[in-house]
Amino acid sequence: MDHHQSHNPSSSNHQHQSAHKRERNDNWRSSSVKKLSKPNHYQNPSESAARQIPVTSHTLSTRREHFEKDFPLYKQPVEIGCFSLDSERRFYNDNRQMRYYVEPDRNPNFDLRDGYRDRYRKRDDGVKEKLDHMLHWILANRLKLQPSAPSTRLLHADFVTWRGHLTKLLTTPYETREGWLLAVTRFRGTFYISEVETEAARREQENRTERHEEMMYWGYKFEQYTCTDDTHSLPDPSGVVNTNEAFCTVVQTRLADHKLLFSGEVDCRDKDPDAPPPPSCYVELKTSAEICTPKQRSNFHRFKLLKWWAQSFLPGVPRVVAGFRDEEGVVVSVETFHVSKISSLIRNEHNCWKPTVCMNFCCDFLTFVKHVAVEDDPDVVYLFSWDPRRDVTYSIHRNSHYSFLRHWYIKEMTSEGDPDHH
Ligand code: A3P
Ligand code: MG
Repeated sequence: MDHHQSHNPSSSNHQHQSAHKRERNDNWRSSSVKKLSKPNHYQNPSESAARQIPVTSHTLSTRREHFEKDFPLYKQPVEIGCFSLDSERRFYNDNRQMRYYVEPDRNPNFDLRDGYRDRYRKRDDGVKEKLDHMLHWILANRLKLQPSAPSTRLLHADFVTWRGHLTKLLTTPYETREGWLLAVTRFRGTFYISEVETEAARREQENRTERHEEMMYWGYKFEQYTCTDDTHSLPDPSGVVNTNEAFCTVVQTRLADHKLLFSGEVDCRDKDPDAPPPPSCYVELKTSAEICTPKQRSNFHRFKLLKWWAQSFLPGVPRVVAGFRDEEGVVVSVETFHVSKISSLIRNEHNCWKPTVCMNFCCDFLTFVKHVAVEDDPDVVYLFSWDPRRDVTYSIHRNSHYSFLRHWYIKEMTSEGDPDHH
Protein backbone atom coordinates (compact mmCIF):
# COMPACT_ATOMS: atom_id res chain seq x y z
CA MET A 1 0.00 0.00 0.00
CA ASP A 2 2.38 2.69 1.14
CA HIS A 3 5.62 0.73 1.15
CA HIS A 4 7.47 3.74 -0.15
CA GLN A 5 6.37 5.69 2.87
CA SER A 6 7.57 3.23 5.44
CA HIS A 7 10.70 4.38 7.14
CA ASN A 8 13.00 1.44 7.63
CA PRO A 9 16.02 1.56 9.94
CA SER A 10 18.14 -0.28 7.41
CA SER A 11 17.52 -0.99 3.78
CA SER A 12 18.85 -4.52 4.10
CA ASN A 13 18.16 -5.55 7.66
CA HIS A 14 14.41 -5.26 7.84
CA GLN A 15 11.96 -6.86 5.50
CA HIS A 16 8.99 -4.78 4.57
CA GLN A 17 5.84 -6.35 5.85
CA SER A 18 2.54 -6.69 4.14
CA ALA A 19 0.22 -3.78 4.73
CA HIS A 20 -2.23 -6.16 6.37
CA LYS A 21 0.27 -7.34 8.96
CA ARG A 22 1.71 -3.93 9.61
CA GLU A 23 -1.64 -2.43 10.38
CA ARG A 24 -2.38 -5.01 13.05
CA ASN A 25 -1.86 -3.69 16.49
CA ASP A 26 -4.16 -5.71 18.66
CA ASN A 27 -1.65 -8.03 20.24
CA TRP A 28 -0.61 -5.86 23.16
CA ARG A 29 -3.04 -7.52 25.49
CA SER A 30 -1.90 -11.04 24.77
CA SER A 31 1.86 -10.58 24.87
CA SER A 32 3.10 -7.81 27.06
CA VAL A 33 0.23 -6.63 29.23
CA LYS A 34 -0.66 -8.49 32.35
CA LYS A 35 -3.98 -8.12 33.98
CA LEU A 36 -3.80 -8.14 37.74
CA SER A 37 -6.54 -10.03 39.47
CA LYS A 38 -6.99 -7.78 42.45
CA PRO A 39 -7.81 -4.08 42.28
CA ASN A 40 -5.09 -1.68 43.25
CA HIS A 41 -5.75 1.53 45.08
CA TYR A 42 -3.40 4.27 44.13
CA GLN A 43 -3.01 7.43 46.03
CA ASN A 44 -0.52 10.19 45.84
CA PRO A 45 0.49 10.98 49.43
CA SER A 46 0.10 14.70 48.78
CA GLU A 47 -3.47 14.36 47.53
CA SER A 48 -6.58 14.22 49.66
CA ALA A 49 -8.43 10.98 50.21
CA ALA A 50 -11.37 12.41 48.28
CA ARG A 51 -9.30 12.37 45.08
CA GLN A 52 -8.27 8.77 45.49
CA ILE A 53 -9.34 6.79 42.45
CA PRO A 54 -9.61 3.02 42.76
CA VAL A 55 -8.56 1.29 39.57
CA THR A 56 -8.06 -2.21 38.38
CA SER A 57 -4.49 -2.04 37.34
CA HIS A 58 -2.73 -3.39 34.30
CA THR A 59 0.98 -3.46 33.85
CA LEU A 60 3.06 -3.53 30.70
CA SER A 61 6.07 -5.81 30.39
CA THR A 62 9.32 -4.35 29.02
CA ARG A 63 11.03 -7.71 28.42
CA ARG A 64 12.85 -7.75 25.10
CA GLU A 65 11.55 -11.13 23.97
CA HIS A 66 7.98 -9.77 23.85
CA PHE A 67 8.95 -7.26 21.18
CA GLU A 68 10.97 -9.43 18.79
CA LYS A 69 8.26 -9.10 16.17
CA ASP A 70 8.16 -7.74 12.64
CA PHE A 71 9.18 -4.12 12.36
CA PRO A 72 6.02 -1.99 12.75
CA LEU A 73 4.98 0.59 10.19
CA TYR A 74 6.83 3.83 10.81
CA LYS A 75 6.02 6.47 8.24
CA GLN A 76 8.72 8.73 6.95
CA PRO A 77 8.49 11.71 9.34
CA VAL A 78 7.35 14.96 7.72
CA GLU A 79 8.41 18.34 9.07
CA ILE A 80 5.31 20.48 9.45
CA GLY A 81 6.95 23.39 11.21
CA CYS A 82 9.73 24.51 13.48
CA PHE A 83 10.47 26.97 16.25
CA SER A 84 13.39 28.70 17.89
CA LEU A 85 14.34 29.51 21.47
CA ASP A 86 16.65 32.48 21.89
CA SER A 87 19.46 33.21 24.36
CA GLU A 88 16.82 34.04 27.01
CA ARG A 89 14.77 30.94 26.15
CA ARG A 90 12.05 33.01 24.46
CA PHE A 91 9.88 31.24 21.87
CA TYR A 92 9.72 32.23 18.17
CA ASN A 93 7.59 30.50 15.58
CA ASP A 94 10.41 30.49 13.02
CA ASN A 95 13.87 29.11 12.23
CA ARG A 96 16.01 32.03 13.42
CA GLN A 97 18.20 29.68 15.50
CA MET A 98 18.98 27.36 12.58
CA ARG A 99 22.69 26.64 12.25
CA TYR A 100 24.71 25.27 9.34
CA TYR A 101 27.13 22.35 9.43
CA VAL A 102 30.73 23.00 8.47
CA GLU A 103 32.60 19.73 8.00
CA PRO A 104 35.65 19.69 10.25
CA ASP A 105 39.05 18.17 9.63
CA ARG A 106 39.12 14.39 10.27
CA ASN A 107 41.63 14.96 13.09
CA PRO A 108 40.78 18.46 14.26
CA ASN A 109 42.26 18.71 17.79
CA PHE A 110 39.33 20.84 19.00
CA ASP A 111 39.79 21.77 22.66
CA LEU A 112 36.36 21.21 24.20
CA ARG A 113 37.42 22.70 27.55
CA ASP A 114 38.03 26.11 26.06
CA GLY A 115 35.57 28.71 27.39
CA TYR A 116 34.02 26.55 30.13
CA ARG A 117 34.92 29.04 32.87
CA ASP A 118 34.45 32.34 31.07
CA ARG A 119 32.28 31.87 27.94
CA TYR A 120 29.49 29.54 29.05
CA ARG A 121 25.89 30.46 29.80
CA LYS A 122 24.12 27.37 31.03
CA ARG A 123 20.39 26.90 30.75
CA ASP A 124 18.68 26.71 34.15
CA ASP A 125 17.71 23.04 34.30
CA GLY A 126 15.71 23.72 37.47
CA VAL A 127 13.05 25.34 35.27
CA LYS A 128 10.72 22.59 34.12
CA GLU A 129 9.26 23.67 30.77
CA LYS A 130 7.12 20.56 30.31
CA LEU A 131 5.32 20.77 26.94
CA ASP A 132 5.00 24.58 27.00
CA HIS A 133 7.02 25.33 23.84
CA MET A 134 5.10 22.70 21.89
CA LEU A 135 1.80 24.09 23.17
CA HIS A 136 2.86 27.55 21.98
CA TRP A 137 3.77 26.11 18.62
CA ILE A 138 0.41 24.32 18.33
CA LEU A 139 -1.53 27.51 19.09
CA ALA A 140 0.54 29.47 16.58
CA ASN A 141 -0.08 26.83 13.88
CA ARG A 142 -3.66 25.77 14.50
CA LEU A 143 -4.66 26.13 10.88
CA LYS A 144 -1.97 23.70 9.75
CA LEU A 145 -3.14 21.17 12.30
CA GLN A 146 -6.89 21.58 11.84
CA PRO A 147 -7.15 22.22 8.11
CA SER A 148 -10.59 20.71 7.58
CA ALA A 149 -12.36 21.81 10.74
CA PRO A 150 -10.50 24.66 12.45
CA SER A 151 -13.45 25.42 14.71
CA THR A 152 -13.51 21.99 16.34
CA ARG A 153 -10.13 22.53 18.00
CA LEU A 154 -9.28 18.91 17.39
CA LEU A 155 -5.70 18.02 16.47
CA HIS A 156 -4.91 15.54 13.76
CA ALA A 157 -2.72 13.65 16.26
CA ASP A 158 -3.18 10.90 18.82
CA PHE A 159 -0.02 11.87 20.70
CA VAL A 160 1.77 15.15 21.32
CA THR A 161 5.15 14.95 23.01
CA TRP A 162 8.89 15.67 22.84
CA ARG A 163 11.13 13.50 20.72
CA GLY A 164 13.32 12.96 23.81
CA HIS A 165 10.44 11.26 25.64
CA LEU A 166 9.95 8.89 22.71
CA THR A 167 13.70 8.19 22.66
CA LYS A 168 13.40 7.02 26.27
CA LEU A 169 10.55 4.71 25.29
CA LEU A 170 12.51 3.25 22.39
CA THR A 171 15.50 2.40 24.60
CA THR A 172 13.48 1.10 27.58
CA PRO A 173 13.81 -2.65 26.82
CA TYR A 174 17.62 -2.21 26.98
CA GLU A 175 17.92 0.31 29.79
CA THR A 176 19.39 -1.08 33.01
CA ARG A 177 20.12 2.09 35.02
CA GLU A 178 17.58 4.88 34.69
CA GLY A 179 13.82 4.56 35.09
CA TRP A 180 11.26 7.14 33.98
CA LEU A 181 7.98 8.78 34.86
CA LEU A 182 5.70 9.92 32.04
CA ALA A 183 2.61 11.99 32.73
CA VAL A 184 -0.24 11.56 30.23
CA THR A 185 -3.32 13.74 29.87
CA ARG A 186 -6.11 13.02 27.40
CA PHE A 187 -7.60 16.26 26.13
CA ARG A 188 -10.00 16.57 23.22
CA GLY A 189 -9.05 13.13 21.96
CA THR A 190 -5.29 13.76 21.95
CA PHE A 191 -2.87 12.21 24.46
CA TYR A 192 -0.24 14.65 25.70
CA ILE A 193 2.88 13.02 27.18
CA SER A 194 5.21 15.01 29.42
CA GLU A 195 8.09 13.68 31.49
CA VAL A 196 8.26 14.05 35.27
CA GLU A 197 11.70 14.03 36.88
CA THR A 198 12.31 10.91 38.96
CA GLU A 199 13.63 11.14 42.49
CA ALA A 200 16.79 9.32 41.36
CA ALA A 201 17.38 11.77 38.50
CA ARG A 202 16.90 14.72 40.83
CA ARG A 203 19.46 13.32 43.29
CA GLU A 204 21.91 12.64 40.47
CA GLN A 205 21.53 16.19 39.19
CA GLU A 206 22.16 17.60 42.67
CA ASN A 207 25.24 15.46 43.22
CA ARG A 208 27.00 15.92 39.89
CA THR A 209 30.78 16.07 40.15
CA GLU A 210 32.65 19.08 38.84
CA ARG A 211 34.15 16.81 36.15
CA HIS A 212 30.66 15.71 35.04
CA GLU A 213 29.44 19.34 34.96
CA GLU A 214 32.34 20.24 32.72
CA MET A 215 31.83 17.23 30.46
CA MET A 216 28.24 18.30 29.84
CA TYR A 217 29.66 21.46 28.31
CA TRP A 218 31.86 19.53 25.89
CA GLY A 219 29.01 18.45 23.62
CA TYR A 220 27.84 22.05 23.16
CA LYS A 221 31.39 23.25 22.57
CA PHE A 222 31.77 20.68 19.79
CA GLU A 223 28.63 22.16 18.19
CA GLN A 224 30.25 25.59 18.26
CA TYR A 225 33.36 24.26 16.46
CA THR A 226 31.25 22.71 13.68
CA CYS A 227 28.33 25.14 13.14
CA THR A 228 27.77 28.62 11.75
CA ASP A 229 24.82 30.98 11.93
CA ASP A 230 24.77 31.60 8.20
CA THR A 231 25.81 29.78 5.04
CA HIS A 232 28.79 31.93 4.14
CA SER A 233 30.87 32.21 7.32
CA LEU A 234 33.09 29.91 9.35
CA PRO A 235 32.48 28.64 12.90
CA ASP A 236 33.52 31.06 15.64
CA PRO A 237 34.85 29.19 18.69
CA SER A 238 35.71 32.50 20.39
CA GLY A 239 32.04 33.21 21.14
CA VAL A 240 29.91 32.35 24.17
CA VAL A 241 28.23 28.92 24.41
CA ASN A 242 24.64 29.63 25.46
CA THR A 243 22.60 26.47 25.97
CA ASN A 244 19.31 28.38 26.13
CA GLU A 245 19.41 28.70 22.36
CA ALA A 246 17.72 25.99 20.33
CA PHE A 247 16.23 25.25 16.96
CA CYS A 248 13.46 22.63 17.06
CA THR A 249 11.75 20.74 14.28
CA VAL A 250 8.10 19.69 14.58
CA VAL A 251 7.32 16.48 12.75
CA GLN A 252 4.28 14.41 12.04
CA THR A 253 4.43 10.69 11.49
CA ARG A 254 2.65 7.45 12.28
CA LEU A 255 3.76 4.39 14.24
CA ALA A 256 1.34 1.57 13.36
CA ASP A 257 -2.06 3.14 14.15
CA HIS A 258 -0.68 5.92 16.35
CA LYS A 259 -0.59 9.38 14.77
CA LEU A 260 2.34 11.24 16.33
CA LEU A 261 3.16 14.93 16.56
CA PHE A 262 6.46 15.65 18.25
CA SER A 263 9.27 18.13 18.40
CA GLY A 264 12.99 17.70 18.84
CA GLU A 265 16.03 19.92 18.92
CA VAL A 266 18.09 19.87 15.73
CA ASP A 267 21.79 20.71 15.94
CA CYS A 268 22.30 21.98 12.38
CA ARG A 269 21.59 21.43 8.69
CA ASP A 270 23.58 20.85 5.53
CA LYS A 271 24.48 24.29 4.22
CA ASP A 272 24.06 23.31 0.58
CA PRO A 273 20.80 24.98 -0.56
CA ASP A 274 20.28 22.01 -2.91
CA ALA A 275 20.38 19.53 -0.04
CA PRO A 276 17.18 17.49 0.39
CA PRO A 277 14.37 19.16 2.35
CA PRO A 278 14.06 18.80 6.15
CA PRO A 279 14.40 16.53 8.01
CA SER A 280 16.75 14.86 5.48
CA CYS A 281 19.20 17.77 5.46
CA TYR A 282 19.58 17.78 9.26
CA VAL A 283 22.76 16.69 11.03
CA GLU A 284 22.99 15.48 14.62
CA LEU A 285 26.27 16.25 16.41
CA LYS A 286 27.66 14.05 19.16
CA THR A 287 30.79 13.60 21.20
CA SER A 288 32.09 10.37 22.67
CA ALA A 289 35.22 9.04 24.35
CA GLU A 290 37.79 7.83 21.84
CA ILE A 291 37.77 4.07 21.27
CA CYS A 292 41.07 2.35 22.09
CA THR A 293 40.16 -1.22 23.04
CA PRO A 294 37.76 -3.93 21.74
CA LYS A 295 35.81 -3.63 25.01
CA GLN A 296 35.34 0.12 24.44
CA ARG A 297 34.22 -0.52 20.88
CA SER A 298 31.70 -3.09 22.06
CA ASN A 299 30.31 -0.70 24.72
CA PHE A 300 30.07 2.06 22.14
CA HIS A 301 28.01 -0.22 19.87
CA ARG A 302 25.82 -1.60 22.63
CA PHE A 303 25.00 1.58 24.54
CA LYS A 304 25.96 4.76 22.68
CA LEU A 305 24.83 3.76 19.21
CA LEU A 306 21.45 2.63 20.60
CA LYS A 307 20.81 6.12 22.02
CA TRP A 308 22.13 7.87 18.91
CA TRP A 309 20.09 5.67 16.59
CA ALA A 310 16.84 6.10 18.56
CA GLN A 311 17.17 9.87 18.84
CA SER A 312 17.79 10.46 15.13
CA PHE A 313 15.66 7.69 13.64
CA LEU A 314 12.51 9.12 15.26
CA PRO A 315 12.51 12.50 13.43
CA GLY A 316 14.16 11.09 10.30
CA VAL A 317 17.55 12.76 10.75
CA PRO A 318 19.85 10.73 8.48
CA ARG A 319 23.36 11.63 9.74
CA VAL A 320 25.17 11.72 13.07
CA VAL A 321 28.59 13.38 13.10
CA ALA A 322 30.66 12.14 16.05
CA GLY A 323 33.68 13.84 17.59
CA PHE A 324 35.81 11.33 19.50
CA ARG A 325 37.65 13.03 22.33
CA ASP A 326 40.45 12.05 24.67
CA GLU A 327 40.41 12.26 28.49
CA GLU A 328 41.48 15.92 28.31
CA GLY A 329 38.51 16.88 26.14
CA VAL A 330 40.43 17.19 22.86
CA VAL A 331 38.60 15.90 19.77
CA VAL A 332 41.09 13.58 18.11
CA SER A 333 38.91 12.25 15.28
CA VAL A 334 35.60 12.89 13.56
CA GLU A 335 33.40 10.27 11.95
CA THR A 336 30.00 10.33 10.21
CA PHE A 337 27.42 7.65 11.02
CA HIS A 338 24.54 7.12 8.66
CA VAL A 339 21.49 6.34 10.78
CA SER A 340 20.20 3.79 8.25
CA LYS A 341 23.46 1.85 8.55
CA ILE A 342 23.77 1.78 12.33
CA SER A 343 21.80 -1.42 12.76
CA SER A 344 24.10 -3.29 10.38
CA LEU A 345 27.19 -1.89 12.14
CA ILE A 346 26.14 -3.56 15.38
CA ARG A 347 25.14 -6.86 13.83
CA ASN A 348 28.32 -8.65 14.91
CA GLU A 349 27.85 -7.64 18.52
CA HIS A 350 26.64 -10.63 20.54
CA ASN A 351 23.21 -10.20 22.17
CA CYS A 352 22.93 -6.60 21.01
CA TRP A 353 19.95 -4.24 20.74
CA LYS A 354 17.47 -4.47 17.88
CA PRO A 355 15.53 -1.60 16.27
CA THR A 356 12.41 -3.75 15.99
CA VAL A 357 12.32 -4.33 19.78
CA CYS A 358 12.61 -0.58 20.38
CA MET A 359 9.84 0.32 17.96
CA ASN A 360 7.49 -2.49 19.01
CA PHE A 361 7.87 -1.59 22.67
CA CYS A 362 7.08 2.07 21.95
CA CYS A 363 4.10 1.05 19.86
CA ASP A 364 2.73 -1.26 22.56
CA PHE A 365 3.28 1.38 25.22
CA LEU A 366 1.22 3.89 23.20
CA THR A 367 -1.54 1.29 22.77
CA PHE A 368 -1.41 0.67 26.53
CA VAL A 369 -1.76 4.44 27.14
CA LYS A 370 -4.81 4.63 24.87
CA HIS A 371 -6.48 1.85 26.87
CA VAL A 372 -5.59 3.23 30.29
CA ALA A 373 -6.11 6.98 29.85
CA VAL A 374 -9.85 6.88 29.21
CA GLU A 375 -10.99 10.07 30.90
CA ASP A 376 -10.73 13.09 28.60
CA ASP A 377 -9.99 15.84 31.09
CA PRO A 378 -7.09 18.33 31.25
CA ASP A 379 -7.05 18.05 35.06
CA VAL A 380 -6.43 14.31 35.07
CA VAL A 381 -2.93 12.89 34.80
CA TYR A 382 -2.19 9.22 34.26
CA LEU A 383 1.32 8.80 35.61
CA PHE A 384 3.19 5.93 33.97
CA SER A 385 6.15 4.72 35.93
CA TRP A 386 9.00 2.40 35.05
CA ASP A 387 12.10 1.15 36.85
CA PRO A 388 14.72 -1.12 35.26
CA ARG A 389 13.87 -4.84 35.48
CA ARG A 390 10.26 -3.99 36.32
CA ASP A 391 6.98 -3.70 34.39
CA VAL A 392 5.41 -0.35 33.53
CA THR A 393 2.74 0.61 36.08
CA TYR A 394 0.49 3.63 36.40
CA SER A 395 -1.43 5.75 38.89
CA ILE A 396 -4.15 8.37 38.41
CA HIS A 397 -4.05 11.95 39.72
CA ARG A 398 -6.80 14.54 39.54
CA ASN A 399 -6.01 18.25 40.09
CA SER A 400 -2.56 17.34 41.37
CA HIS A 401 0.83 18.99 40.93
CA TYR A 402 1.35 16.58 38.00
CA SER A 403 -1.14 18.49 35.81
CA PHE A 404 0.84 20.08 32.99
CA LEU A 405 -1.55 21.40 30.31
CA ARG A 406 -1.59 25.18 30.71
CA HIS A 407 -4.74 27.18 31.33
CA TRP A 408 -4.03 29.44 28.34
CA TYR A 409 -3.79 26.39 26.12
CA ILE A 410 -6.95 24.71 27.44
CA LYS A 411 -8.88 27.96 27.10
CA GLU A 412 -7.76 28.58 23.54
CA MET A 413 -8.46 24.98 22.53
CA THR A 414 -11.93 24.80 24.08
CA SER A 415 -13.79 28.09 23.90
CA GLU A 416 -12.60 30.54 21.30
CA GLY A 417 -13.88 29.78 17.83
CA ASP A 418 -15.95 26.85 19.05
CA PRO A 419 -19.44 27.16 17.58
CA ASP A 420 -20.94 25.81 20.84
CA HIS A 421 -19.67 28.87 22.63
CA HIS A 422 -20.94 31.55 20.28
P1 A3P B 1 26.85 15.08 23.25
O1 A3P B 1 25.68 14.63 22.48
O2 A3P B 1 28.02 15.33 22.42
O3 A3P B 1 27.09 14.23 24.45
P2 A3P B 1 22.26 16.43 21.97
O4 A3P B 1 23.39 15.63 21.38
O5 A3P B 1 21.13 15.57 22.42
O6 A3P B 1 21.86 17.51 21.03
O7 A3P B 1 22.80 17.13 23.30
C1 A3P B 1 23.81 18.09 23.20
C2 A3P B 1 24.72 18.05 24.40
O8 A3P B 1 24.00 18.30 25.60
C3 A3P B 1 25.39 16.75 24.67
O9 A3P B 1 26.46 16.56 23.81
C4 A3P B 1 25.84 16.92 26.10
O10 A3P B 1 26.99 17.72 26.18
C5 A3P B 1 24.67 17.67 26.67
N1 A3P B 1 23.72 16.74 27.27
C6 A3P B 1 22.51 16.42 26.77
N2 A3P B 1 21.88 15.56 27.58
C7 A3P B 1 22.70 15.30 28.60
C8 A3P B 1 22.63 14.48 29.75
N3 A3P B 1 21.56 13.75 30.04
N4 A3P B 1 23.69 14.45 30.57
C9 A3P B 1 24.76 15.17 30.28
N5 A3P B 1 24.89 15.97 29.21
C10 A3P B 1 23.88 16.04 28.39
MG1 MG C 1 23.77 16.67 19.51
